[in-house]
Amino acid sequence: MRRAKNDSDIRSVISERVSRRGFLLGTGATMGAVVAQGFVGSLFSGQAFAQDAQSSLSFTELKRVFDDKHRVADGYKAEVVAAWGDPMKAGQGPFDHATMDAAGQAERFGYNADFIAFLPLPRGSKNSDNGLLCVNNEYVSFNVMFHDMPDDDEGAKRMTAEQVALCNMAIGHSIVEVKREAGVWSVVQDSPMNRRITLDTPMAISGPVAGHAWMKTSYDPEGKMVKGTNYNCGGGYTPWGTVLTCEEGASDTFGGDITKTPFPEVLDRYGYDGSDYYSRARFEDRFNVEKEPNEPNRFDWVVEIDPYDPASMPVKRTAMGRMAHEASTVVLNKDGRVVVYMGDDDYFEYVYRFVSDAKYDPSNPASGKDILDTGTLSVALYNADGTVNWLPLVQGQGPLTAENGFATQADVLLKTRLAADALGATPMDRPEDMETNPVTGRVYAIMTKNKKMTAEKLNAPNTRPENFWGHIVEMIPPGGVGADADHTADAYTWDLFVLAGNPKDAATGATFHPATSEDGWFVTPDNLTFDPKGRMFVATDGANSFDIPDGIYGIDTEGPARGLPKLLFTCPMGAEASGPCFTPDGTTLFVSVQHPAEDSDILANATTRWPDFKGDNVPRPAVVAIQRADGGEVAA
Ligand code: FEO
Ligand code: CA
Ligand code: CA
Repeated sequence: MRRAKNDSDIRSVISERVSRRGFLLGTGATMGAVVAQGFVGSLFSGQAFAQDAQSSLSFTELKRVFDDKHRVADGYKAEVVAAWGDPMKAGQGPFDHATMDAAGQAERFGYNADFIAFLPLPRGSKNSDNGLLCVNNEYVSFNVMFHDMPDDDEGAKRMTAEQVALCNMAIGHSIVEVKREAGVWSVVQDSPMNRRITLDTPMAISGPVAGHAWMKTSYDPEGKMVKGTNYNCGGGYTPWGTVLTCEEGASDTFGGDITKTPFPEVLDRYGYDGSDYYSRARFEDRFNVEKEPNEPNRFDWVVEIDPYDPASMPVKRTAMGRMAHEASTVVLNKDGRVVVYMGDDDYFEYVYRFVSDAKYDPSNPASGKDILDTGTLSVALYNADGTVNWLPLVQGQGPLTAENGFATQADVLLKTRLAADALGATPMDRPEDMETNPVTGRVYAIMTKNKKMTAEKLNAPNTRPENFWGHIVEMIPPGGVGADADHTADAYTWDLFVLAGNPKDAATGATFHPATSEDGWFVTPDNLTFDPKGRMFVATDGANSFDIPDGIYGIDTEGPARGLPKLLFTCPMGAEASGPCFTPDGTTLFVSVQHPAEDSDILANATTRWPDFKGDNVPRPAVVAIQRADGGEVAA
C-alpha cells in the first residue's frame, strides 16, 4: 500500500509512536484489560522455552545497519535480477532515465516491484534454474522517479501528460524469463515470454459480476472488458500455472465527486475520495467518477494471468470479491477443490476465503480454466474461545437479501465489504499477506499494523490499542497436518503466532521467542512465504519509522524455536521488502526491494541511489536474488 502523506508519513508516525509510548506508560491498566478480555494466544503458555533454543535456520544472523545499502547475512549474496526500466526486448539499450518515456516504459520492467511468482520452464516442471519471474508493479513513487516532484498532491498536479502516461505504463505486472548460469540470475532479454501488463492492457471480466449494470461504461457497454489493472500488490499462483495478481484498492486514483454517482455509499465504504493522486483524471475521463461513474467498480478484483501464453488475455475474477486485495494464496484442498486465502488491506477490514465449487484435476491442467469463477466466498469471524468461523457471503442467506440491497450474488460481490459488515465479521489490524505452511497445513495471516485501533475496538485476534507493530495470526484447519488439512471446513481454530515489536520495550507487548536477538525482532510484517522445509520468511514494510531497515526474517513455526526470528536481509533506506518467493529447490529467495528513497522529499535529496550508485542517478526499485555463496539451500 502506498505511503500516503496523511497516512504513514515517517515524521508523523514517529510522533505517533512517541505519544503511543506515553499513552501506555500512563495507562498501565490497558494491557491488563486486553489480556482479561479473552484469547491472547498460547505461544508461550504452558511451554518453557530455553533461552538458548536453537533456530533451525542455519545462517548467522545479519547485523542491522540502517543506511543507503542492502545487506545480506554472511555466506550469502543478494544480487539484482531486474530493476525499474530494465530492457525486456531484443535490441533495447540499458535503462536511461533521461530518455525514458511512456512508449519505452510499456516495454520495460515496471516500477515498485511487489509480489513475485517464479514459474519454472518448461510449464509443469520443477526447474529451479530457468523460469518466468512474474512481478507485480504496485504503484509509482513520483517524488523519486522525476526531478523536482514532491510527494504530495501538489507534486501530482505538476506532472505533465507525458509523465502521467509514463506512470500509467510503469504499473501493473512484469513477466520476464530468467536463467541462472554459474550461480548468477539474469533476464533473458530477447525471450518471447517477456511481457508487460499495464493500466492500458485489455482484460476480460468474468464471474458473477460480469455484465452487471454497474460494470458498463462508454468504453465497454457490455460490462465485460476493462482496460488495465492498478495497485497490484500481493498475489498468488495456481497449480495450473497461472498467476493471481491482487488489485489493492483504486480509491485514491480516481477524481471527481462520489456523491454525484449512483452509489456514493459504496464508493465511500471503499475509501474513494476523489483525490486523483496520480493525476489520471486530469488526462483521462474514465478516471473521473462524475464522467464515468462505473469505472471504479471495475477495479479492486483478483486478476488471473497466464504467463506461459504471452498472447493470453488477463481475466478479472469477480467471484473472489471486491476489496483492497492483498494476497490470493492458493491451496489445492485434499478433495480437489481450489481454496484461495485473501486479506483486505485497510484499517478494520477482514480476512476472506474462496472455495471453488468444481474440483481441479492435476492430470488435466485445463480443468483449472475458469474454475475460480464459481464458488463460495466467506469472511472470517474470530471467536474468543480460539475458534474461527467462515461466514459465507451468499445472496439470500442471513441478511444478504434484496431488501438489504443484495438482490443478486453480483450485488454481494460488488459490495463485498458491506456484505461482510452485515454478517458481523471480525475487523482486523490491516490484513496483508496470507500463506499456508506446506509442511503443517497451518494458515498464517499477517496484520501489518493499525494505528487507529482503540481500547474500545479491541477484539480477540487484535489485542493492542494503537498497534504500530503488527502481528501474525495462525489458523489451524481441522482434518490433520500438511495435505490432510481441510481448507474447506466451516470452522478452524486460531492462535496468535507472534505480536511484533521490540521485546525490550515492554510497552509494545511483543511476544517473540525469549531468545530473540537485538537484530532479530521485527515490526510491521507485510508479506510472508515458506521454504520447502516449512520455515516462514517474513518481509517487513514500515520499519523505517523505528529507525531500522525493512528486511527479511526467517522464523520457525514449529519446535523449540517457534517464534524466534532471525534477520537474513535488509533493504536500503526508504524501501520495503516484499514478495518473497523461493525457487522450487529452495536455493534462491527472490525479494522485491520496493520504493527505495521514497522517504525523500524530492529526487535531488534521495536518501539512497540504490542499486546503481552512479553519481546522482535515480534510485530504482528492483528484484534481488538471495543465494548461499556455495549454492546450497537457503537456511538449510
Ligand atoms: Fe500494497 Fe498492503 O501493501
Ligand atoms: Ca506494503
Ligand atoms: Ca503489501
